[in-house]
Amino acid sequence: MRLRFPMKPAVLPFLVVSLVFLSRSAVGIRNIPGRIAGFDIVQFVEAPEYRNGKECASQSSNRENFVSSCDPSLVHVAMTLDSEYLRGSIAAVHSVLRHASCPENVFFHFIAAEFDPASPRVLSRLVRSTFPSLSFKVYIFREDTVINLISSSIRQALESPLNYARNYLGDILDRCVDRVIYLDSDIIVVDDITKLWNTTLTGSRVIGAPEYCHANFTKYFTSSFWSDPGLPGSFSGRKPCYFNTGVMVMDLVRWREGSYREKIETWMQIQKKRRIYDLGSLPPFLLVFAGDVEAIDHRWNQHGLGGDNVRGSCRSLHKGPVSLLHWSGKGKPWVRLDEKRPCPLDHLWEPYDLYEHKIERAKDQSFLGFSSLSELTEDSSFL
Ligand SMILES: *[C@@H]1O[C@H](CO)[C@@H](O)[C@H](O)[C@H]1NC(C)=O
Ligand SMILES: *[C@@H]1O[C@H](CO)[C@@H](O)[C@H](O)[C@H]1NC(C)=O
Repeated sequence: MRLRFPMKPAVLPFLVVSLVFLSRSAVGIRNIPGRIAGFDIVQFVEAPEYRNGKECASQSSNRENFVSSCDPSLVHVAMTLDSEYLRGSIAAVHSVLRHASCPENVFFHFIAAEFDPASPRVLSRLVRSTFPSLSFKVYIFREDTVINLISSSIRQALESPLNYARNYLGDILDRCVDRVIYLDSDIIVVDDITKLWNTTLTGSRVIGAPEYCHANFTKYFTSSFWSDPGLPGSFSGRKPCYFNTGVMVMDLVRWREGSYREKIETWMQIQKKRRIYDLGSLPPFLLVFAGDVEAIDHRWNQHGLGGDNVRGSCRSLHKGPVSLLHWSGKGKPWVRLDEKRPCPLDHLWEPYDLYEHKIERAKDQSFLGFSSLSELTEDSSFL
């Protein structure tokens, strides 16, 4: 595996340049497959047009049909966008639109890695051609800043810089965006996203997510963490519970005011020196927030559907209603469907798939794993 390091002068810590794709009128390029060296990236079928019902607050779009990301009627969703998981991201967007009561009020913020093999520009074009009237922006994530914070002691697949993008949303998104729903790419939403958006974050809570208090919290940290005289004290006054960082409602005003990015980075710096956990981006979130998250109904993250690390194992749904399905874990539904060995629940993902042609993989495999947004074993406590 090889990670390329950008040969660039020192950059501001804010990593981003945004490609502005605000126009609701299509850019005019449709179904042009992106092509990168040895790698024909996909073609997606254009999604059906999902329109607002009469009951929806309309956005104040101007004559050019622009929707400003500052419009207060919008529901903001942030996701990463990378060539490995593109098919998942497209299906996720499709599912959100399909079930939203006011699909035109959903604004997507996509974070793409600067050195994604398909390039952020190509990814943007693919999103535009698949969803011609979608309101979205693509931000380019400068990997070089975060890469120095990522501990080298953890598994390569968990070290994808893009996996840490959720920690930078307060910096990346426009200041006027005061709340955002972060979603992983291996999910589908089967309910109105506005319900999740309307979650009240009580007191001074900064994030909301389903909590799993019967999971064994101890195992997310190493014995050198628990035996340290000081570190476990960071949980004092809290009853920490596991939560999954693949679905979060985030109050970006409180996030920015409380400097939560820095808090998470501080734990990443400690991890670099001391190895206090084995997984990637999840444990620092647990360190900062566990026991202090707004507990959202479990229906909003039916996780673990990717199966555990035992080959071929399938998971079933947890008890209770379902608003969001999450294929966290090793297997991904598009891979299993293509290999003709799907798990039963993978058929629930299939109707949202807009994929048209197969990706022809390069013979050179060196980039594989380079840009994957992979939670993999982060979610190993299947409940
Ligand atoms: C969300 O909240 C808004 C504003 O309070 C309200 O108009 C809307 O009906 C709510 N939507 C849902 C689905 O709960
Ligand atoms: C929780 O996990 C830790 C570390 O893996 C283990 O030592 C402990 O026995 C577990 N506790 C329970 C109740 O399973």
